[in-house]
Parts: sequence; structure tokens; C-alpha cells
Amino acid sequence: EKQGFKHFMLKEIYEQPGVVRASLEAYLDSEWTPDSPSNPVRLGLPDRFYEELEHIQIVACGTSWHAGLVGCYLLEQLAEIPTQVHYASEFRYAPTPLMPNTLTIGVTQSGETADTLSALEMEKRRRLDREPKFAARMLGITNRTDSTLGHMVSDLIDTRAGIEIGVAATKTFSAQLVAFYCLALDLAVRRRTLTPERLGAIVEGLRQLPAQIEAILEVQERYIGELSHQFAETQDFIFLGRGINYPIALEGALKLKEISYIHAEGYPAGEMKHGPIALLDAKVPVVAIAVPGLVYEKVLSNAQEAKARDAQLIGVTAMNDDHAAEVFDDQLPIPTVDELLSPLLTVIPVQFLAYHIAAHRGLDVDQPRNLAKSVTVE
Ligand code: M6R
Repeated sequence: EKQGFKHFMLKEIYEQPGVVRASLEAYLDSEWTPDSPSNPVRLGLPDRFYEELEHIQIVACGTSWHAGLVGCYLLEQLAEIPTQVHYASEFRYAPTPLMPNTLTIGVTQSGETADTLSALEMEKRRRLDREPKFAARMLGITNRTDSTLGHMVSDLIDTRAGIEIGVAATKTFSAQLVAFYCLALDLAVRRRTLTPERLGAIVEGLRQLPAQIEAILEVQERYIGELSHQFAETQDFIFLGRGINYPIALEGALKLKEISYIHAEGYPAGEMKHGPIALLDAKVPVVAIAVPGLVYEKVLSNAQEAKARDAQLIGVTAMNDDHAAEVFDDQLPIPTVDELLSPLLTVIPVQFLAYHIAAHRGLDVDQPRNLAKSVTVE
């Protein structure tokens, strides 16, 4: 049931505040305050997961791989655990040399993606009969606990987004991000890598996200709907981001190509001058994610380099950012938040943009050509 929305994808975009709220309620102790001595996170994972943990490796495909990249950033920056993210299809045939005390996380909303399943299977197999420090520790992050993954891995984080029908993943991505925020915080508390003040600020910031996503949905849909008319003939798009928003640039590009069939590339903004800048001219719009934080100034100057090549510049920026207003032709504003929490907000405008461009072109948004909801062949 589309409940009055034109497409399932649009309905699922609108479900995100509720999904994020429900996941936070499930994984975070609602009574917890910064004065509480306890761990605010409740993932219900067994103790053996945490013992002498030295490395994490994440395997996934597509949008779930992008969630893994955000997860990697969080696990390294918050919990200080060396983490690697692999495309499942690559890891399967060229795995990292076996590392001890390693947690392997498979991220798949469907729990049926063949590449991800076979990468996990291989990892399990090569760790059989090894000394205890090499024993497999596997965690699945999935939206379908009754899936093949659910039966293969004994420990799961259930992302609780409800069934997603649109082929383009939206709400399940947000739910995967919440799972990674909570896992990274859980590990950070256990490893004592955060000050109590920082921990309190992040938990408080997470709790505010659902209302902030609601605010973006309310303000932006009309604007982006109208903006998308300008791209009726556009053939290429570039998405730029840095740091924790680099994966959001990749996600914006993937959403757009998947449902609008426009060629789009996501790049870490600083890499643009090392080649892709040659693509730019007035016909190639550039979407840059430039929110306050560590890399803000750098992204703005990378965006300016694009502007000097006549590219139309669209910025996902903080609200009331006058400095950014001077740089960008169009702004898709989000509330000002800690940069670390921003992906759950910056992803909304790029989802909307992809949706509206595709819908405006009259395409079958929920069932794009050549794609299936889950890819069950390797
Ligand atoms: O079910 P999974 O999360 O394992 O699916 C992985 C990819 O096939 C999937 O994310 C794909 O990239 C989406 N259609 C993206 O919107």
C-alpha cells in the first residue's frame, strides 16, 4: 500500500524519521543520561564479541557498502578500532590475510545478497579449526532476520525498518546507519575512548535526529521537486563529499544512476582535482555536501574549483549558512548538527533529488530497469 504516495520510494523516504526513532528506542536506553555510569547501548551481543577485539572487517554491496563506509568512520573515530570495508564480491576472491581477534560484519538489508553471503561463508570456512584467536566472530546487520543471512550468522542487529519495496534502498540505509552509530558507541564505552561529555553529546544528538529529519522532509520536498525540472536533459552529475559525508556522496550518485539512468559519480571532494575535474563544464551539475565541521572549508574550496569550470553548484549545507550561500547556486539546507551525526540528515536531500529527477522523467522509480530488489546471483 502506497498510502497516498506516488511511489513506494517516496513513502519510504518519508518513513525515515519513524525508522530512526524506533531503532534508537530499541538500541539506546531511554532512561540513560550523561550522569548515568552505565553503557547507554543495548545491542544484546554476547561478551565474546568484545573480548580482545582488535580489528573489524565489513563486507557488503551497494548501498549497504556505503553504510559500511560510514560505519568504518565511526568505529575508527569513536571506538578507535582499525576497520576495513570490502565489497563482498571482491573480498570473496581476494580476502585480507587472516587477522586474529577480528569481528566480521555482513551488512545486507535483504539478507539474501549472494555476494555478501558467499563472502561470509568463505570467511567462516577459512577460520574453522584454527587456534582460538582466529575463531570466526560474525555479526549480521539486516532488515530481514528470517533471511538466509539470519540463519547463517548467530548474532544479528535487526534494523527494524519494516519491509522496503522500492528497489532503491532509502529507509533501510538510515536504519543501518543507526545500527553502526550504536555499535560504535557501545565499543567506545567499553574501550573508554570517549569522554563522558562527548558520549553525552552524541547520545543527545542522536535523539534529536528524528525531528530534524522530519524538518528536512517538510521544508525540502517542494523545492527539490521544482529544482529537478532543470535536469530534464542532464546527462552527468558529480557528487562530492569528504570525511563522514564522502559515503553520502557515493550514495547520492548511486541513487541517481539507479532510478534516473543519469550517469553520476561520487568522489571524495579533494580527489576531484586529480582527474575528474576534466569532466566539468556548464552541462555537469555538481552536488557538494558542505556542512560545518573538520572538512567544511576544504569542501567549499573544492566546490569553488568546480564553479570556476562553470558547473552548476548545488550545496547540501547547514541552514542559514551565508558563507555557503555565496558559493552555491542552489542550497539544500539541513539543521546544524555535529558533523559526525550529519549523514543521517545529508542523505535526505540526495535521496529526494534522485527521486524527483527520476519521477519528473516519468520513469518507473520503484522498479528501475535491469535491477532487482535483491541480487541473488554472484
Ligand atoms: O540487500 P542488500 O543490502 O544486500 O543489497 C545490496 C545492494 O544490492 C543494494 O543496496 C543496491 O545497491 C540497492 N538497490 C541500492 O539502492
